[in-house]
Amino acid sequence: MCDPFVPPDANNVPIDGDGNISAFRIHNGRVDMKIKYIETERYKLERRAGKALFGLYRNPFTHHPCVRAAVDSTANTNLVYWADHLLALKEVALPYAVDPDTLETLGYDPFGGQVKAKTFTAHPKVDPYTNELVVFGYEAKGLATRDIVIYALDKNGKKHDEQWIEAPWCAFIHDCVITQNWIVLVLWPFEASIERMKAGKQHWAWDYNLPATFIVVPRRATTPLPKGWKQGEHRVYSWKNSMLIHTGGAWETGDGKLYFDSSRVHDNAFPFFPPEDGRMPAPNAKVDFVRWEIDLSQPSGSKVADPTIILDVPSEFPRIDERFMTKETNYVFLNVFIPKKSQGDKNIFHGLNGLAMHNHKTGKTQWYYAGDTSLVQEPIFIPRSDDAPEADGWVIAMVERREANRNDLVVLDTKNFETPIAYVQLPMHVKAQIHGNWVSASSLQKRVSLVRQMPEVKISNRGSLEPLT
Ligand SMILES: [Fe+2]
Repeated sequence: MCDPFVPPDANNVPIDGDGNISAFRIHNGRVDMKIKYIETERYKLERRAGKALFGLYRNPFTHHPCVRAAVDSTANTNLVYWADHLLALKEVALPYAVDPDTLETLGYDPFGGQVKAKTFTAHPKVDPYTNELVVFGYEAKGLATRDIVIYALDKNGKKHDEQWIEAPWCAFIHDCVITQNWIVLVLWPFEASIERMKAGKQHWAWDYNLPATFIVVPRRATTPLPKGWKQGEHRVYSWKNSMLIHTGGAWETGDGKLYFDSSRVHDNAFPFFPPEDGRMPAPNAKVDFVRWEIDLSQPSGSKVADPTIILDVPSEFPRIDERFMTKETNYVFLNVFIPKKSQGDKNIFHGLNGLAMHNHKTGKTQWYYAGDTSLVQEPIFIPRSDDAPEADGWVIAMVERREANRNDLVVLDTKNFETPIAYVQLPMHVKAQIHGNWVSASSLQKRVSLVRQMPEVKISNRGSLEPLT
């Protein structure tokens, strides 16, 4: 979750609080919970000072001069377990490694030195068929640069298939999709400006003249290229001005088409990064969940066709059964606003009150409704067994009980999605979580034997990874 340890700068934005992990261990019919801050360099400096030293989000010109060389990351967005490391991720910097048992922060940049990039996405994707973590970073050569790096980490954390490209403008690139041979980066219509930052204003400004844009890149030098593509080429496609916040499933077909799903906000979903003229998004901007088709035979710069609407309700945080990532999947789980159950005219800006499990083949949607004064957070899918069919298992999600001022963890069986099989009642309220993931106990047991062989690390004031001598 995003939880500022010290009162933040009065003008800072809600996505810039210190990262704090909520870990749930489910075993033998009980659930244990642990909460701990990620001890980033920024957190340690501000905790020591007892006050905010960092000013606006990703704007070093607003930071206290004595922290301008520090790693400016809250590590507050996502947790991904890869190559025996639990990675606490924020797209502005490199990962922090966290011990999954104790939640102690182990160090910064655990795959250090392999790639000369300053950033690492909070949404890397696991290709379960090749056992790779596919990573990208934008503003990868520094503040407001258009440089993007793309690479993969193998199961041992070794880098390969590194490539560098340039974005058409310095865009906010939060999420991506991967298919067997392709990666598609999804650009939001914000632009970074050094001049605006130097003027003490926000890193990002929405631009109503920019379109939602896709950068389509072969994942490897060996990717079989469609007719007309040159080696080393990438293509840029776009739609209309909109914010495609997070992605669901994605796959490719043999006829040169890519398909992927995303949420779609027909306006700026981050009003705290307004355009230069200060225009606010429409209070009831339409939000839906859609499927995109990209025709790789089209030249770079083409517009993509209007997407197919999958769910015409405000929805976000789509997740699939990620054992099938890169292949066509039949189910998606996502947060939704269930309008029939609620009073008034609400949308994504006012909260999502349920979860949906949607079957693409039948078109059937099942709904879990949490109650009109409750907000539901990202659904996490857990397979019933390693070889269970797609989407056979459980979905867990945090539910914020606003009137009671506490939270539940809801457990849904995908065989009967609309009626929970369990609520884990937390005795307190915790702030909204951003993203999370399930890690099986068996994979952690393997880690324990490996992690003992790693050199012990400490974090210096500068956040660098230094072996203790
Ligand atoms: Fe995200």
